[in-house]
Amino acid sequence: MKIGIIGSGYVGLVTGACLAHLGHTVTCVDHDENKIRTLKTGKVPFYEPGLSEMVLTNVEAKRLSFVGDIAKVVNRCEVLFICVHTPSRANGEADLTFVDKVARQIAKNLRKYCLIVEKSTVPVETGEWVFRTIKRNIKKGVHFDVASNPEFLREGSAIHDFLKPDRIVIGVANERSEKIFRELYGPLKAPMIVTDIKSAELIKHASNSFLALKISFANGLSRICDAVGADVEKVVLGMGLDPRIGAQFLKAGIGFGGSCFPKDLSAFLHISEQLGARFELLAGVLRINEFQAKYFVQKIQNTLRSLKGKTIAVLGLAFKPDTDDMRSAPSIPIIQMLQREGVRIQAYDPQAMEKAKLIFKNVTLAANAYDAAKGAHAVAVLTEWSEFLNLEWSRLKRQMTGKFFFDGRNMFSAPEMKKHGFNYTSIGRPSA
Ligand code: UGA
Repeated sequence: MKIGIIGSGYVGLVTGACLAHLGHTVTCVDHDENKIRTLKTGKVPFYEPGLSEMVLTNVEAKRLSFVGDIAKVVNRCEVLFICVHTPSRANGEADLTFVDKVARQIAKNLRKYCLIVEKSTVPVETGEWVFRTIKRNIKKGVHFDVASNPEFLREGSAIHDFLKPDRIVIGVANERSEKIFRELYGPLKAPMIVTDIKSAELIKHASNSFLALKISFANGLSRICDAVGADVEKVVLGMGLDPRIGAQFLKAGIGFGGSCFPKDLSAFLHISEQLGARFELLAGVLRINEFQAKYFVQKIQNTLRSLKGKTIAVLGLAFKPDTDDMRSAPSIPIIQMLQREGVRIQAYDPQAMEKAKLIFKNVTLAANAYDAAKGAHAVAVLTEWSEFLNLEWSRLKRQMTGKFFFDGRNMFSAPEMKKHGFNYTSIGRPSA
């Protein structure tokens, strides 16, 4: 099938490359001319395992191309995906300016039937609003449908998640739209949940909110475990084996970040208020998450006592491993709080250094973990990159002037780190 992807950011590019991989002919559009130039050479402007290779292969096979102008694409496609950003406004509400702009551009240029699909995470009832906007601006007699097809991919495993989904959710207004989706996703073996458009929109916000809720539950629990000397990892293991609860997303740490959970929860909370059905639980989830970064800094402060003039080696800056994404990364508030207390930061991340440069002031970015540890009183792990599992601890410790180790991701075991000579503190687990 011929597909147009409007917005070549994270979701758009992964969706475009994967649909091309399935054999469709895909054109990705973006208003950022620089990005289009880069993509045409097969280069991806962010780090996602396997994506560059997939883009290059499909560009060479002529199944994937890039253009800067929507007008060149709309009439060539049977399906148009809207994958533009929906950032948060200061009050938490989703800013739909880009969705509105794209809907108007589609309407202005469309001359034949097309299925227009919201792929970006949008508030419930956006589909109706997009439909009305297009209807008002389209040439008389041109037919179209609007549908919702939320994406559930995770950064770092996006290609796997797209090609091997747990489920495909489609919110459609009629059988014609459903038939198009069945053909589009035919090669993927996954259950298809067919709903009305509003329910599909809600499935996305509800899923992300529920996952974030599990994380905040584990983080809230971690503080109780610390208070009584219990082990949060054991508690969630004992809970998670109950299939009604499930073991995933119960890992305590320094809180969730990224471009999705914080933004989507705030937006969902905001819509619930607007609808007169405030979802109070979500406010609690966000509060726990915000506090967790402070809690980690308090732990460092309680152990090191005075922070002024201390040097801390930060290992990991990205919001999670296998990505260079720094959006809403918990490392940002943690480093800023430590700096306010007079701490010197020496940081290392395997992928996020370029992006970190643009965010932090007065942070020394080191070439590796050992350089970051030079002269440090303490190490703080903020992202659980697997390469940190293979560090030579004696070498790292030789670089340091202190022996304190703060594990914000519960990556290591206390007895093991004690054996290596560290004074080890983690989240919700007994120290060593
Ligand atoms: C999330 C969802 O997992 C995807 O299903 C969804 O499609 C995506 O948002 C989206 O809406 O686009 P992502 O933001 O890539 O994906 O990252 P996750 O793997 O979900 O991690 C989010 C944050 O939660 C990270 O900061 C991670 O460190 C943290 N986390 C995750 C925990 O602190 N504990 C856990 O047990 C799991």
